[in-house]
Parts: sequence; C-alpha cells; structure tokens
Amino acid sequence: MWERDNDVCMEKITIQGKSGDSRILVGESLPALSRHIPAKGVFIITDKNVVGYYHSEFPDFPVYVVEPGEKSKDFEVMTKIWHWLLEKDADRSSFIVGIGGGVVCDLAGFVASTFMRGIPFGFVATSLLAQVDASVGGKNGVNLGGYKNIIGTFTQPEFVICDTSMLKTLPDDEFRNGMAEVIKHALIKDADKFNFLKKKRNAILKREREAINHIVNQSVKIKATIVQADELERGERRVLNFGHTWGHAVEKENKIPHGQAVSIGMAFAAGLSKHLGYLKEKDYNDILVLLHEYGLPLNSELDKDQVFDTLLRDKKKEKDKMNFVLLKTIGDAFVKEMDTSVIKNFALTF
Ligand SMILES: NC(=O)c1ccc[n+]([C@@H]2O[C@H](COP(=O)([O-])OP(=O)(O)OC[C@H]3O[C@@H](n4cnc5c(N)ncnc54)[C@H](O)[C@@H]3O)[C@@H](O)[C@H]2O)c1
Ligand SMILES: [Zn+2]
Repeated sequence: MWERDNDVCMEKITIQGKSGDSRILVGESLPALSRHIPAKGVFIITDKNVVGYYHSEFPDFPVYVVEPGEKSKDFEVMTKIWHWLLEKDADRSSFIVGIGGGVVCDLAGFVASTFMRGIPFGFVATSLLAQVDASVGGKNGVNLGGYKNIIGTFTQPEFVICDTSMLKTLPDDEFRNGMAEVIKHALIKDADKFNFLKKKRNAILKREREAINHIVNQSVKIKATIVQADELERGERRVLNFGHTWGHAVEKENKIPHGQAVSIGMAFAAGLSKHLGYLKEKDYNDILVLLHEYGLPLNSELDKDQVFDTLLRDKKKEKDKMNFVLLKTIGDAFVKEMDTSVIKNFALTF
C-alpha cells in the first residue's frame, strides 16, 4: 500500500475501497494534474480564493467557481452545478476534479457520485485539513438546513493530489484548523508523530516543505489505514472521532472554527481519560502543552451544562449511554461505551 516515486519525490498511498482504488499522492503538484486526468471531458470545481491564487496552474477545462466556505455545501449550489454540467454536455464518460479545501472536495465528490448515477472524480486538496482529512476516505456530502453532512455517499476519488506547496497561501487560522486534525492522528495512533510535532514545531509553523510533507504523509497513512480497515465506519473508523463528540457540541454552541472546537474536545477527552484512570498525568499535560504551542484553545467560557445538553440532543437514540473515544496513552485510542452521567459529571469539573 506504500511506495516511493523517486522521480518527483512523491509518496503514494492507496486505499482499496468498495467503489474502487483511491491513490493519495503527497508531494505531487497542481501543475502535474494533467498526468492524472483524461485528455478531454474534464470539469473542474473550485472556490473563489483558490482560483484567485492558482488559476494559471489549472489545466484548460471548464471551471465552476463557488463562494468560499461552508455555505457552499448546499443543495442550491449543487443543483446549479448539476445544471452547469448538463449545459456543458457532460455525460457518463466525463471526469470531475475538485481543486480546493474540504468544502470543495465534499461538494465535488458528492456532485460526481450522484451525477448520472456517478462519474469518476479526483481532488487536488489545497488546505491542510483537506490534505490530512477531508479528501481522504471517500466520504462526501452536503448540509441540509442545520444538519451537517447529512446527505452524502461513500465513494472514493480516483486520486487525491496533496500539493503541500499550496499551503503557503493558506491563512494562519485555517492552517491551525488542519493542525488540530494532525495532532488528533498522533494522539490516536502514533506516539512518534507526537514527538515529531513537539520537536519540529518551529519548522512546521513556518510551513517548511520537508516538515510539512512528513506530517501530511504520516496523517494520510494513519487515516488511510483506518479507512482501509473499516471503510463504512462500523467500528475502528470511529477512533477518528476523537475530540469530536465534545468538540461538535462546543462548535454548535459557540460557532468557533472546527479545529479550535476539536482542540477543546481533545483536551476534554484527554481529561476524561485521565479522570477514569487510563491516561497518565504526564501524558495529559504533554497533550495540553502541545495543543497550546500550536495556538489551539484548551477550553471555552461556555456553560458546561449547556454544552452537555447540546451533546445529548445530537444523540438520536440512547440518551443514557454513548460511545466515547478515550486514550490509554499517547498514540493509543479506544472506543468505550459509557453512561452519559459519567461524562456529565466530568464536564461540570472541566
Ligand atoms: N469528507 C470528510 O471525510 C471530511 C472530513 C473532515 C472535514 N470535512 C469537511 O471539510 C470542510 C472543511 O474543510 P476546510 O477547512 O478545508 O475548509 P474550506 O474548504 O472552507 O477551506 C478553508 C478556507 O481556506 C481557503 N483555501 C483553501 N485552500 C487554500 C490555499 N491553498 N490558499 C489559500 N486559501 C485556501 C478556502 O477558500 C476557504 O476560505 C467542512 O465542510 C467539513 O465538513 C470532510
Ligand atoms: Zn474534524
């Protein structure tokens, strides 16, 4: 599943999905995109920011540009893109490329997997979050009203290009958002990665290519391995939700960026792991220090009762038990079914 392409100093990771193989190319560049797509019948979906910076490097195919941000993951936008494809004579032999962050990847992946019952697609992931998380794993979708990602499919892109040089233009806040997921990968699966993040903080924050390529590679490998084992999220893939249960509730209440909410959620889950006697005090402190060093928050001013109520509201079925991802140690996460009262009691002390 892991090979090195010496010509272009690129790492290639393959996920063998139910809908086909997906090749993730870390270090491949946007200008090399034409090597991976058909010679004709290609349609590009991107957003205003990305096209503003990189249009001159796009291959010469029709481009649909959406507004940047979450509001574009919406049925109205999607319907317009379906119409645009029809007007441009797209058919079952066409190919879609999403060039952008997680929003564009989720949208382009869903448009492609539903248009004419599904046409092939690939991504150039341009944000750190898209490179380490959103573009990898075959989940796509759009929002419906207040419900995030509620409509979508599991369909693998044929390829994902992670051009890490494009991260140079990514705003700092967006970079930090992506770092929260990178840190999550280290915490759930890879203690070496955690140490690398500790040691190479300056190089990473300066976005030095070598350090960034390393962390993107490691994250993609971790996510790809988990997805390969459990593509449809029935078991192991749930560890990827580490920090997201409490984090989502905080995000809903506070409307802060996802990465910040996940950081608070990870601090919470690590605290709960320590409280229950799994995680050592030293590991817990190390985690808090690392999050802080990457400019990520550890807590919020929100009323914990209220956050807990929001968390429960999200659980449609059982209200008195829930699955929660905890840490045994740095690099080793597990899913535990817990009484919600235990979580609530801890929340009131957090
Ligand atoms: N499908 C999945 O498995 C999965 C996993 C995690 C997140 N997601 C989804 O991903 C989305 C968030 O992704 P995101 O954080 O990338 O958000 P995003 O796509 O909105 O990108 C963040 C911002 O960065 C800009 N941007 C992107 N690349 C840039 C670049 N190279 N230079 C300058 N600006 C750039 C975008 O225009 C946008 O303004 C959410 O909708 C979330 O639901 C999906
Ligand atoms: Zn996340």
